Amino acid sequence: MKKEFVIFGNPVEHSKSPQMHNAGFKALEFDGIYRKHLLEDGESIKEVFLNNGYDGANITVPHKEVAYRNADEVIGLANEIKAVNTYINDNGKIIAYNTDAPGFLYAIESFGEIKSVLILGAGGTAKAVSLALQQSDVDVTVLNRSEGKLKFFKDHKIKSYTWDNFQPSKYDLVVNTTSAGLKDDSYPCDKELLEEILKEANGAFDCIYGKITPFLALANELGLPAKDGEDMLLYQGVLAFEYFTGSNADEDIIEAMRQGLKE
Ligand SMILES: NC(=O)c1ccc[n+]([C@@H]2O[C@H](COP(=O)([O-])OP(=O)(O)OC[C@H]3O[C@@H](n4cnc5c(N)ncnc54)[C@H](OP(=O)(O)O)[C@@H]3O)[C@@H](O)[C@H]2O)c1
Repeated sequence: MKKEFVIFGNPVEHSKSPQMHNAGFKALEFDGIYRKHLLEDGESIKEVFLNNGYDGANITVPHKEVAYRNADEVIGLANEIKAVNTYINDNGKIIAYNTDAPGFLYAIESFGEIKSVLILGAGGTAKAVSLALQQSDVDVTVLNRSEGKLKFFKDHKIKSYTWDNFQPSKYDLVVNTTSAGLKDDSYPCDKELLEEILKEANGAFDCIYGKITPFLALANELGLPAKDGEDMLLYQGVLAFEYFTGSNADEDIIEAMRQGLKE
């Protein structure tokens, strides 16, 4: 019987996950279909998932935290992040994972060895990325424009600052997890400060994908190795795909999924 998967989000129209996963299913000859499911009331996620008989799901903005609270069993680092992006239906029991965090680690492998990272932003993505790095023994610093979201990082013994009390240092990698540059032309922090930080850094990574943000443009201008968030999106998808299909995604499957993303 054909297995059914969805991505829950609000909005969800823009999501590229269906084209990525369907391309992977085709390459694997797996009998599955992956669609978008607009979910307005996040609190209903468990009921909607089970009543529709979905075999698995991904969860995107703004439902990752409510999805975490509604899972029957949460695996791994997601217990610390307190947000999940993947559901598996195990005979009516919801098993949940966060594949954003390990997906990010795969995406930055191309930079070589990383010992210190400055994360710009303190939202959901910053939480996942910082804990994944911390678990890999990387020295992590978080810089955000406001104080409000820093408690999570302080609780996890991660150095965290606002623009007012930050003294830049030298970092192997600077990661933009803010939404600055997504729909506007803003920098994730003051341009002069960013320039000072990037001049001393060895690489720059933007979680935003599909466009050259002002952050990436500045990194390019300074001749820094830099990449956007496409690989992060791809690898969180590949890891979810492996849970969905119960099989390892080899190079051919990963390439098919990458091409699916570009469709
Ligand atoms: N490639 C991928 O697979 C992937 C996966 C997940 C997310 N993303 C991208 O990551 C970004 C963040 O997502 P999220 O879910 O973490 O968002 P979020 O929870 O809303 O957090 C956004 C963070 O950005 C900061 N911020 C927003 N606008 C800013 C600006 N103009 N200048 C400076 N700081 C600003 C906010 O600061 P305050 O605390 O001061 O409000 C907050 O810390 C989005 O662009 C999303 O598309 C990519």
